[in-house]
Amino acid sequence: MNPTSPDAAWLDCPKSPALTDGELHVWRARLDQSAETIRALHETLCDEEKTRADRFHYPGGREYYIVGRGILRDILGRYLGVAPNRISLSYSSHGKPALADSGGEAAIQFNLAHSGLLVVYAFVLGRNVGIDIERNRPDFAGQRIADRFFSPREAYTLRTLPKDQREAGFLNCWTRKEAYIKARGEGLSFPLDAFDVSLKPGEPAALLTTHGDESEAGRWSMFALETEPDYAAAVAVEGQGLAMQQYLWSPKHTD
Ligand SMILES: CC(C)(COP(=O)(O)OP(=O)(O)OC[C@H]1O[C@@H](n2cnc3c(N)ncnc32)[C@H](O)[C@@H]1OP(=O)(O)O)[C@@H](O)C(=O)NCCC(=O)NCCS
Repeated sequence: MNPTSPDAAWLDCPKSPALTDGELHVWRARLDQSAETIRALHETLCDEEKTRADRFHYPGGREYYIVGRGILRDILGRYLGVAPNRISLSYSSHGKPALADSGGEAAIQFNLAHSGLLVVYAFVLGRNVGIDIERNRPDFAGQRIADRFFSPREAYTLRTLPKDQREAGFLNCWTRKEAYIKARGEGLSFPLDAFDVSLKPGEPAALLTTHGDESEAGRWSMFALETEPDYAAAVAVEGQGLAMQQYLWSPKHTD
């Protein structure tokens, strides 16, 4: 592997990873796995997930869902030292999944996101965490969408960027906003224009301001993730000074 490529920051997945307080673990995988891997991952899903998988009718939908959930179970199984099919998940009123039997405040919290052919996961102990990834699509990263979804400050910052930085700025903004909303777990019931994130390419990812509660922004950290070309991704996590470790999931570790 080229040590200067973004992949150099992603380590091969450990069989029994250890997550300690103050660490943030991010995992990334491809959704387009082999039929054999998909079959093995499908075996680990609960009945509800299998039913949900069968409801996808667009090409790849069923398989991508199985892979996304199957890998989530595989990774959680590694942290917890239990078989993936024995993991039980619960959902908040807005649909955010969590470990059903979490075992108290210091329990593993996680979030996942998928776009295109990639899925990403974030794991921490006892803190809210959210992650988002977006593959750039033609006609996605435009000022019209920014004016509709971003805060006035973000939309203005985007408009005033040099033209060749606007697409990257848009994706930075989108993924950072979505990661924060997902960390809070409230879905789109939390207004998108009620907070500002950084978006200029080259500047660190950050929650800049939260309108109505000045102390809120200081309670969070944000990280931008480099994955594959044409994708942007970000994590939002409660607290400061966390050390991030990045892992690449691969099917050779499923047995
Ligand atoms: C529920 C929501 C998280 C879905 O987001 P999405 O972009 O469609 O999907 P993502 O790939 O980011 O995330 C999907 C995962 O988030 C998780 N999720 C679901 N509800 C969630 C919630 N309320 N909070 C956090 N995570 C949630 C699930 O694990 C889901 O994975 P699954 O398919 O295996 O169930 C929600 O934030 C949403 O509808 N966003 C709309 C996008 C938008 O308008 N963004 C504006 C950004 S400026």
